[in-house]
Amino acid sequence: MIDKNGKRFGWFFTKKNVFENIAFKNWLQMIPEIDKKIVLEPFAGKNTLVDMLTSMNLLNDVEFQSFDIFPRHQNVIEKDTLKYFPSNFPLVMTNPPFIAKNSATRKDLDIMEYFSLGKENYDDLYEVCLEKILENTKYAAVILPETFLKTPYFKNRLHTFISLAQKKIFDKTEHPACLALFQPEDNNGNYRLYHNEQYLGMYKELKEREHQFFEFSDLYEVTSHNILKYDDKIGFKLRLNCPHGQIGLIAIDATEAYKKIHFCAGDLIDSADVNQQSRLRTRFHIEKLDENFKEEEIIQIIRLLNQNLKTLRETTHDIFLTSFKGMNNSMMYRRRLDFVTAKKLIIMSVNQFLQKS
Ligand SMILES: C[S@@+](CC[C@H](N)C(=O)[O-])C[C@H]1O[C@@H](n2cnc3c(N)ncnc32)[C@H](O)[C@@H]1O
Repeated sequence: MIDKNGKRFGWFFTKKNVFENIAFKNWLQMIPEIDKKIVLEPFAGKNTLVDMLTSMNLLNDVEFQSFDIFPRHQNVIEKDTLKYFPSNFPLVMTNPPFIAKNSATRKDLDIMEYFSLGKENYDDLYEVCLEKILENTKYAAVILPETFLKTPYFKNRLHTFISLAQKKIFDKTEHPACLALFQPEDNNGNYRLYHNEQYLGMYKELKEREHQFFEFSDLYEVTSHNILKYDDKIGFKLRLNCPHGQIGLIAIDATEAYKKIHFCAGDLIDSADVNQQSRLRTRFHIEKLDENFKEEEIIQIIRLLNQNLKTLRETTHDIFLTSFKGMNNSMMYRRRLDFVTAKKLIIMSVNQFLQKS
């Protein structure tokens, strides 16, 4: 069991050597020798990351300097690095504490003073840590929640994002994680994306593919509002979280790899389970402007929806879908389809159907 201090300071230690990765090695090679004479580990815990890095023989003749508010190793110096971040270290390698602000409040963890150190109204403590790291260093390799990619922060210095779809990275949690590699220069909004060792493409290239997939996207501003949508442009009415909707959505992947996110007949989802808070499964209602869709039309639309969803996932390698705790039995992160993307898919598929018929 992890006690209150453990929760308060994010004692989830790294077990697996996530630096054994071609993208990390390439990034390290690009760093000038002068900037890698000493490496700072500001949230070092048991100093495991430093042990992993030294065992790899990549950083010969390099000195390591480790700090932690609760040192667990003789080479780690006691310091509150969030309040007093060590300066003059050009290179940082670390795994900072991940603590969501809402869970800290719920569990009464007394860490709000740390959130107030951040320049933005961050949702997670790792974001405050990352702000301090990037303010004080040129290069950084940081283990972060995989959802980092979906946040609006710190992308301008990102060199490489590696989704670490591997089991047992940490000792006590299955939190989906990534390794984010930062550079000193502005990247003009573009960076490399990897799934473990597999190169997926550049961010802008994959975003462009997603944009082309939703080729209509300039026409509509699709929002997450759960309102009845009546719009001349979309040509039909669409209602989300509707207990009697004809289209069902199972919005998360199951542990069995073949049971993926999918659309289904609405009545396969119990109407009592559908309300405005539904996130993991829901029902949508669609209606033509002048009449109802017939049952066989709905079946064809659901088929189109699932084909389009499959193409979207293949085109973007799933990288823009939020990861969900735990992996499936093919060692891939389980993903969740957000309702904005679900609505885009429905608008696209219904329009394809209406144009054909
Ligand atoms: C997720 S653990 C990671 C430890 C280590 N880097 C690893 O990967 O195993 C985060 C560490 O940050 C430390 N920590 C939390 N808040 C801190 C603070 N304000 N100043 C310094 N260290 C802190 C915790 O004590 C914990 O050891």
